[in-house]
Amino acid sequence: MSDGERNFSEQEAVAALLEWYSLAGVDAILTEEPRDRFAETKDRLRAKAEAGEAPAAREAQGSPAPTRNDAPTPARPQVAVPDDVAVASARDIARSAATMEALREGLNTFQGCNLRITAKSVVFGDGDPHADLMLIGEAPGRDEDIAGIPFVGRSGQLLNRMLAAIGIAREKVWITNTVPWRPPGNRTPTPAETEICLPFVARQIELVRPKVIVCLGSPATKAILRTEEGMLRIRGRWLSYSYGEKPEETVPAIPMLHPAYLLRQPAQKKLAWRDLLAIRAKLDALSPSGA
Ligand code: URA
Repeated sequence: MSDGERNFSEQEAVAALLEWYSLAGVDAILTEEPRDRFAETKDRLRAKAEAGEAPAAREAQGSPAPTRNDAPTPARPQVAVPDDVAVASARDIARSAATMEALREGLNTFQGCNLRITAKSVVFGDGDPHADLMLIGEAPGRDEDIAGIPFVGRSGQLLNRMLAAIGIAREKVWITNTVPWRPPGNRTPTPAETEICLPFVARQIELVRPKVIVCLGSPATKAILRTEEGMLRIRGRWLSYSYGEKPEETVPAIPMLHPAYLLRQPAQKKLAWRDLLAIRAKLDALSPSGA
C-alpha cells in the first residue's frame, strides 16, 4: 500500500460510491433490485452462440436455448422507432383523442420516445382542462417524475406563488410540459424528443382552448412559438400561437422566464413581475369577469 492509499471499510466504500453516483447526476432509483447488465448480455450472447451451434438437436429435444441458471431474462425496454415514424404516430394518437382523458390514455400507450425508458412516470398536464390560462414548461424534474404531476418541486412552488400574486390559483390553470417524461439527469430534451412529443402538447392546447398561453423558459418558447430568439430578448413580448389545422385561429402567447431560472437569478424576478402583470391585464381584457 503506498502512502496515499488506505483501506476503506465496506460502509465507507458504499458511501463513496453513492456520493459518486450523486455527483454524476444519478439521483433516483429506477428499479428496486439491482440488475447486472453485463451478466445479462453475456447470457444472451452465450445462448445465441449455443443456439447457433446446435439448433436442430435442441429443437429435436424440444428444449429452449439455455440461460444462466435458467433464470428468466428480464424484459428489455422497447426502444423507440425512427423519429419521423414516432412523430406520425404521436400525431395519430393525439388527433384521435376527443377528450383530455383519452389523450392521457393515448400518451400512456405511446412507445415512440426513448425518454419514457428512464422515467418513472408519464407526467401529463394538470389543473383545469377548461382554463383561460395555460402554462407550458420544459420537462418534468425529479420531484415531478416521482409525483407524476408537473411543477410540484421548488420551481413549481415558486410558480404557484407567482400565480397567486396576480390572483390566480394553480388549480384554475392548465399546466403542462413540452415533454411528459423526465430526461435523465434533468438534461434539456433534444430537438428530436421535443418534436416527437409536440403533438401531445398541441392537442392539449386544442382541447383546453385557453385565452392566453405562457411559455416558461427557452425550450418551451422555441418549441411552441417556433422562434430562436434568446429568452432575455423575447420574454414579455406578445406573440401568437396558431392551431395547426386552423392557422387563422390564434391564441395570444407570451414567453416568460422559467421559475427554475428565477430561483438561480432572483434579481431577474422584477422582469417576471412585469410579465405577470401583462398576463393579468390580458386576461382581464379578454374575460372581464376574471380568470
Ligand atoms: N420544470 C419544468 O419545466 N417542468 C416541470 O414540471 C418542473 C420543472
